[in-house]
Amino acid sequence: MFDLVIDNARIYPLAQDLSILPARSMAVAGGRIAAFDIPPTEESRLRLDARGQAILPGLVDCHTHAVFAGDRLEEYLARLAGANYAGQHRAGGGILKTVHATRQASFAQLLDCSLKHVAPLVAEGVTTLEIKSGYGLDHDSEIKILTVAAAMAPILKIRIVPTFLGAHAVPVPLKRQAYLDWVVDEMLPEVVALRLARSVDIFVDRIAFTPEDLDRLFERAQALSCRLHAHTDQLGHTGATRRAARWKACSCDHLEHAAPEDVRALAESGTVAVLLPIASSFLGDAPPPPVAALRAAGVPIAIASDLNPGTAPVASLLWASATAIRLWGLTPTEALLGITRQAARALDPDADFGTLAVGQSADFGIWDIPRPESLLYAPASHRPVMSFFQGALR
Ligand code: NIG
Ligand code: FE
Repeated sequence: MFDLVIDNARIYPLAQDLSILPARSMAVAGGRIAAFDIPPTEESRLRLDARGQAILPGLVDCHTHAVFAGDRLEEYLARLAGANYAGQHRAGGGILKTVHATRQASFAQLLDCSLKHVAPLVAEGVTTLEIKSGYGLDHDSEIKILTVAAAMAPILKIRIVPTFLGAHAVPVPLKRQAYLDWVVDEMLPEVVALRLARSVDIFVDRIAFTPEDLDRLFERAQALSCRLHAHTDQLGHTGATRRAARWKACSCDHLEHAAPEDVRALAESGTVAVLLPIASSFLGDAPPPPVAALRAAGVPIAIASDLNPGTAPVASLLWASATAIRLWGLTPTEALLGITRQAARALDPDADFGTLAVGQSADFGIWDIPRPESLLYAPASHRPVMSFFQGALR
């Protein structure tokens, strides 16, 4: 007996390409996809007629900084008038401005504004959302952020994947080395012990941490069985991409300044390249990431919103995906797999979501669109008619 059968649907698994399944029905049992092509005689607790509409996997946003307070409008306007991001950071603004606002917010206030930040993503069909800490940078504030992220999952009825990004910036007045020691030796083990995150990230850049810091963090994180992620080669080339690849990181994110050798390293390690076109376009002065080289080397490419107040204040994964096509020449197939299957792999190489196949988590949307590419052609015009998470209507 199935829990749910959806009949008369056009099913797009987004496993390798945008092709449609010959089967017109899909069954769910115990929160997972149980079968395709269900005879009308099969018993199910519920049967739905999709009336020819499309079924696509739930969207996966694999890189966000969605738990924060305040905004950075003034800095954005200053950049439009000629200021630059690294300069704003060095002057005590940037990430540290958001750290200040986030530390001030109570748990309830932070939960409330974070739910507002992600509402457009959820409305657009996102059923898995990664959220990084990194706007706390002290014990209680980092714990507060990760606890808020965890509290959002049952409210939104989606999967939240929390990531510990204590190594996002050095909080004044601390010195980089002393702060990193604390992140690696005290905070990371505590976060893991409290089960607040199983993934770790670091911002390697001339305004943040060094490739050697990445080695220190990843050594400890790997010993604690964490999944590894890094912000690399965003504002300039540091060599951190190839370092992260040596650790077999799940993903390297940004990559605008990655060199051919970095791309080769990603290909060898099976690391997913996460591209963040909204951040790139809002910063305005970034070169394109090496898309052709990534493609030629067979590096899996994911796309994420990077939702954050500094560089990516646009809560739309579809917009990110459509922008990757327009700005950087991704194909529609790369753009759609980039926000489903490859984004799931970026979070977890063994992910059981992000595509439609028997045994996978039943996370999917029903869309009134003629073909999957419609989402990229008119990204602001489409919302799922219904969205399911683990087999339940959201
Ligand atoms: O992904 N690069 C570092 N972190 C964020 C920006 C954070 C911020 O400016 O608040 C990013 O672009
Ligand atoms: Fe980021």
